[in-house]
Amino acid sequence: MSSNPIRLGFMGFGEAAQIFASDFSQAGITHLFAYSPSGAKALPGDPVQKKAQACGITLVKTPGALARHADIIIALTAGKLALGAARKITKSLRPHHFYIDASTNSATAMEKIAALIGDKAQFVDASIMGPVPVSRIKIPIVLSGREAEKVSALLNSLGMNTKVISPDPGAASAMKLIRSVCMKGLSGLLFESLEAAHRRGILDACVEDLSATFNDIAFEKIIKRFICGTATHAPRRIHEMSESLELLDSAHGYSRLTRATLSFMKDMAHSGLAEKFPQENDSIEPVIKAWMQAHQ
Ligand SMILES: NC(=O)c1ccc[n+]([C@@H]2O[C@H](COP(=O)([O-])OP(=O)(O)OC[C@H]3O[C@@H](n4cnc5c(N)ncnc54)[C@H](OP(=O)(O)O)[C@@H]3O)[C@@H](O)[C@H]2O)c1
Repeated sequence: MSSNPIRLGFMGFGEAAQIFASDFSQAGITHLFAYSPSGAKALPGDPVQKKAQACGITLVKTPGALARHADIIIALTAGKLALGAARKITKSLRPHHFYIDASTNSATAMEKIAALIGDKAQFVDASIMGPVPVSRIKIPIVLSGREAEKVSALLNSLGMNTKVISPDPGAASAMKLIRSVCMKGLSGLLFESLEAAHRRGILDACVEDLSATFNDIAFEKIIKRFICGTATHAPRRIHEMSESLELLDSAHGYSRLTRATLSFMKDMAHSGLAEKFPQENDSIEPVIKAWMQAHQ
């Protein structure tokens, strides 16, 4: 493929595909195509046609046409439509095609798409790890699948910022959802704790204190402290969490997450991890494994 021009296609032509296409076009890629149901019906002068023109992209009428025009196909549909979109293009895919599904999806949906495509083409699961309008083509993207290394080298050579995390399709999608467990959970915890701070008239002081903790210590160390420290010290943290819960409840504040934290600390204290790790362990993995064994 090195002597031939890069032929890149998008399955879906929404916000993400338009931004990527525009950046690829600016980087000098001239063979850019997209298929979307509304794009397929658009007449010259329709807004979607104007957007396509602005991004240097040609809209095609069918998924089959997309497969004929492009060797690298990036699927960017709504997650719940991704399997249906893959079904529509699969019969037109050939072994030289890369089909990279970057829709936000469950790991199971990605495994189904991988099984559907099988050996007909080279499938890669991709997760976009942030808002595309902010970092555009440089947005971090994680990839997984048998062909992920090849695809990562190719996409990075086109200016993207991808990283391979596993040979298993589904892992990239799982990573995004697992990240959400932490990030969305953290936002809930921040709401709950800062509401309590506001009720006490110490909002700014608490924000400053939390910020100093998170700003001053490398986050890798914070993760290690939270995991290894909790395994060792959960039994004595129960008392503190009970008091935190009492404080929130006495102020009639929102306390669901703190209630869950207290219950988690009790489970951890009963798990036997404090006896197994009387000193904070040096690495996370043995602690996670011991925790899994304890609660399975
Ligand atoms: N935008 C971001 O910043 C961002 C960040 C991270 C992840 N993502 C993920 O990337 C994916 C795309 O996001 P987006 O913001 O670009 O979404 P979007 O603006 O809603 O665009 C979705 C596109 O998919 C098309 N589509 C629907 N059914 C299709 C089918 N069967 N075959 C081909 N195309 C089809 C739609 O076409 P019609 O308009 O004709 O229906 C539309 O062009 C989503 O899964 C999203 O979660 C996006």
